[in-house]
Amino acid sequence: MSDYRLVSIKEIQRKSLLKNFDCGIEKLNEFLSRYAIRNDELGIGRTFVALNNSNHILGYFTLATAQVAYQEIPDECKGKLPKYPIPALRIARLAVNKELQGNGIGKWLLSQVFIKVVQVSDITGLYLIIVDAKETSKSFYEYYGFQRLVDEELSYFVVIDTVKKAILG
Ligand SMILES: CC(C)(COP(=O)(O)OP(=O)(O)OC[C@H]1O[C@@H](n2cnc3c(N)ncnc32)[C@H](O)[C@@H]1OP(=O)(O)O)[C@@H](O)C(=O)NCCC(=O)NCCS
Repeated sequence: MSDYRLVSIKEIQRKSLLKNFDCGIEKLNEFLSRYAIRNDELGIGRTFVALNNSNHILGYFTLATAQVAYQEIPDECKGKLPKYPIPALRIARLAVNKELQGNGIGKWLLSQVFIKVVQVSDITGLYLIIVDAKETSKSFYEYYGFQRLVDEELSYFVVIDTVKKAILG
């Protein structure tokens, strides 16, 4: 996967690249072209963009922090958690260019999310990664071990310790 590189949205000079991105879901396209830079400037969501050697956008993801109610976590994943809101990192958006879907870019983006999460979790408390999936992406997250939060149709999570063990052994 060395053909891909990940950059912060701040580093994208040609804004037209953001406008031309199409993952097949209009809201995710619109977010990248209209709101991602602003949210980054505000510090409320960090967006990272995957580029190929020709600087075309292959995909992107946006991260933010979140809290999950104790009751939303399935019993088998609660461990010894206190009954307080639990700190989490939210994959606020993740999308791949629709022409390139099914070629491993989503998997690569998710691996980059995991690497960043492991780094962040060394300097602040984080227990879960969460994501609000779409009908079309449920199976993608399930494939990578995400489970549904209690009583939520499309909200998925994975415990960060599980990710760490998978990455770091
Ligand atoms: C969902 C999405 C991010 C997946 O990215 P992708 O590049 O198409 O997926 P990949 O090629 O990396 O697939 C990785 C693996 O997931 C599996 N998978 C399971 N369900 C899948 C699904 N619904 N879509 C894509 N892959 C899926 C693939 O079979 C593949 O397994 P393999 O490596 O063993 O063959 C992408 O299709 C997309 O951007 N969809 C539109 C936007 C969207 O729904 N975003 C999610 C909202 S947060």
